[in-house]
Amino acid sequence: MINNILEKVGNTPLIALKNYEKSNLNIFAKLEFYNPTGSVKDRAASYIINTLLNQGTINSETTLIESSSGNFGIALSAYARQKGLRFICVIDDTTLPVNEMMIRLQGAEVIKITEPDERGGFLLNRIRKIKEIVANTENIYWVNQYENPLNAEAYFNSLGNEICLEIPRQKLDYLFMGVSSGGTITGVSQRVKKKYPNAQIIAVDVEGSVIFGGKSRKRFIPGIGSSLRPKILDSAKIDDVVSVDENETIDCCIELLEKHNIYAGGSSGSVYAAVNKYFQMHQVDRPVNVMCVFADKGERYISTIYNAEWREMIEAYNLTPA
Ligand SMILES: Cc1ncc(COP(=O)(O)O)c(C=O)c1O
Repeated sequence: MINNILEKVGNTPLIALKNYEKSNLNIFAKLEFYNPTGSVKDRAASYIINTLLNQGTINSETTLIESSSGNFGIALSAYARQKGLRFICVIDDTTLPVNEMMIRLQGAEVIKITEPDERGGFLLNRIRKIKEIVANTENIYWVNQYENPLNAEAYFNSLGNEICLEIPRQKLDYLFMGVSSGGTITGVSQRVKKKYPNAQIIAVDVEGSVIFGGKSRKRFIPGIGSSLRPKILDSAKIDDVVSVDENETIDCCIELLEKHNIYAGGSSGSVYAAVNKYFQMHQVDRPVNVMCVFADKGERYISTIYNAEWREMIEAYNLTPA
């Protein structure tokens, strides 16, 4: 028996994708949408808040602030409220209404940036806004997922550990994870390499993201990719990067639902697409265990990826040359 659903963070199900066609590949998916607020970000939100409180870095009077228009904002608003902390979430005009609603419903104060920055996106203006508020507010803590070492530490201690304990026959050959702030892959890769030094850690990014040096382009699917390279990634142990385009992501989300009954979020489709792409280029001549992290669920994408009209619009946009 537990006293609050938020205590159920972690220990998410691991499933085998049984009818995967490519022989020699044993594919497993870690279903992170079974976390209490619906995504892998529960792990970081819960760990960071608990650690800061235990360390005395923050106290019950502290205001937390973060820039996030999606899963991290949703997770932070829940865990902050559970601890009685004030939380300001800086979002922008592109934030999906369903995400904004969840953040507000869970008690966060929302500041919405509507002016695009000089790069045409909103990130720079979101960060400027945060710096302005931090400079003018007493006892405030900027979570700063792109640079805060606690973000990676959260995944080292939770998801990384779980993956090491769970993989069948004590062998992990490949691990595919989507990247945005870089916290998940940094922490998990450090932990997994300790147990399986030969495991190949594959970072999954999307076209239009600049994380691994790609050319910046408008992206429509949140949760994966970034318009800056997160500092936290400097200590990640990444062996290879696979970049997929959003049309591949969309196709793979639909395929996961049709073939595996998994109603997954965008980055899960990207990860699944990356597995297909990677093993088209790298033949394996022995059975290998391949782990995928599926970070969130399809519900948050019901009006986008799972909406035929939206899909047609985005597919047409993404087929035009950059
Ligand atoms: C759906 C989804 N997938 C993947 C990620 C990537 O995680 P990280 O920010 O730790 O790189 C996120 C982060 O927000 C996410 O929301």
